[in-house]
Amino acid sequence: MAGIYVHIPFCKVKCHYCDFHFSVQLKNREALIHAICDELIIRKDYIGDESVRTIYFGGGTPSVVEVELLHEIIQAIEQNYTIAPDCEVTLECNPDDLDEEKLIGLREFGVNRLSIGIQSFNNKVLQFMNRAHNSTQALDSVKLAKACGFENITIDLIYGVPGTSMETWKNQLDQMIELGVPHLSAYCLTIEENTVFGKWQKTGKLKPYEDQESLKQFQYLMDYMKSHGYEQYEISNFAKPNFISKHNSAYWLGEKYLGIGPSAHSFNGAKRSWNVANNPRYIQLINKHESFNETEVLSKKDQFNEYILTRLRTKWGINLNDMKAISPEMLTDSMPILKEYLEEGCVEENGDVFTLTNEGKYIADGISADLFAS
Ligand SMILES: C[S@@+](CC[C@H](N)C(=O)[O-])C[C@H]1O[C@@H](n2cnc3c(N)ncnc32)[C@H](O)[C@@H]1O
Ligand code: SF4
Repeated sequence: MAGIYVHIPFCKVKCHYCDFHFSVQLKNREALIHAICDELIIRKDYIGDESVRTIYFGGGTPSVVEVELLHEIIQAIEQNYTIAPDCEVTLECNPDDLDEEKLIGLREFGVNRLSIGIQSFNNKVLQFMNRAHNSTQALDSVKLAKACGFENITIDLIYGVPGTSMETWKNQLDQMIELGVPHLSAYCLTIEENTVFGKWQKTGKLKPYEDQESLKQFQYLMDYMKSHGYEQYEISNFAKPNFISKHNSAYWLGEKYLGIGPSAHSFNGAKRSWNVANNPRYIQLINKHESFNETEVLSKKDQFNEYILTRLRTKWGINLNDMKAISPEMLTDSMPILKEYLEEGCVEENGDVFTLTNEGKYIADGISADLFAS
């Protein structure tokens, strides 16, 4: 079983925090979608005979593209790959792009899971982030998606936003529960250097949020979601029973995926490759049948570190047998550090599996870095 990720590199506006690959020049979108369809044909052997269990349209903002163009991509996948009958097909969308016609079209073309980028239900916060939508559009988009028959809906929210209070954050979560959304991805704001927020931080216009405040919001998030029946199956991801994202879980569990489109990454257990992160260049290279990606063969050390990085953040945790299978020596080296974290109450042990406790989740990146093979 494998997954396909399709990167749609267009957005209406540039949000002040975002460092993903996208362009606000929408005029190239038809040529780019055609290049994506060509790449799907060029790379069909990557997946071979395996069935495609998940398809994920991410970005950028896939919902800025016309449904007909997205349909062309789905057709190219259907014509060139074997799709599992219960395939999860997710599309990332922004609230201001959704209307009844678009939602019905998406459903007809096989999209069965929507990831709506709400970020906040608060108008001040939305304006501060330079989002294209307002609070009413945020609420209406989820209601409309449900009315159009989408049951499998996830929303994205961001916490730790400078200038916001704990009360603002609590209110976001209350609104999410009221909407009856079965899945939430909640991210702590990262200030990326090459963004407007990054520049503001450099010049002192933006004061970073106190770590302690972000931690309090994260703690509240974990307790709140648990008490409302959501499982925290990854540090930033919470699901009601049966609503865990199959696509993201497969990625965290190290399964094979093919990444299509500018900047998309692919992984097959042994090699990782990444496409050129430039829209005109991507189109040009595909059209000229020239190489459009770079490949790296993962060393044992890379495999070991990648395993820790992706697995430790999940409810599945790290398994000593898997680590030993990659490298018995690297496992031996990391064991004393793992034991230390166990004694400190940051990880817990269940047979051969180690998972993060809530204490550990606060410092997950630090624990991973300490366990890495050097
Ligand atoms: C690449 S965006 C695509 C989704 C869609 N375009 C949108 O705006 O909602 C995926 C998610 O990453 C999160 N994200 C992006 N940059 C972030 C940052 N600097 N800090 C925290 N979360 C971020 C946002 O929650 C966003 O919804
Ligand atoms: S958050 Fe979404 S809409 Fe905003 S710039 Fe990033 S990808 Fe585009």
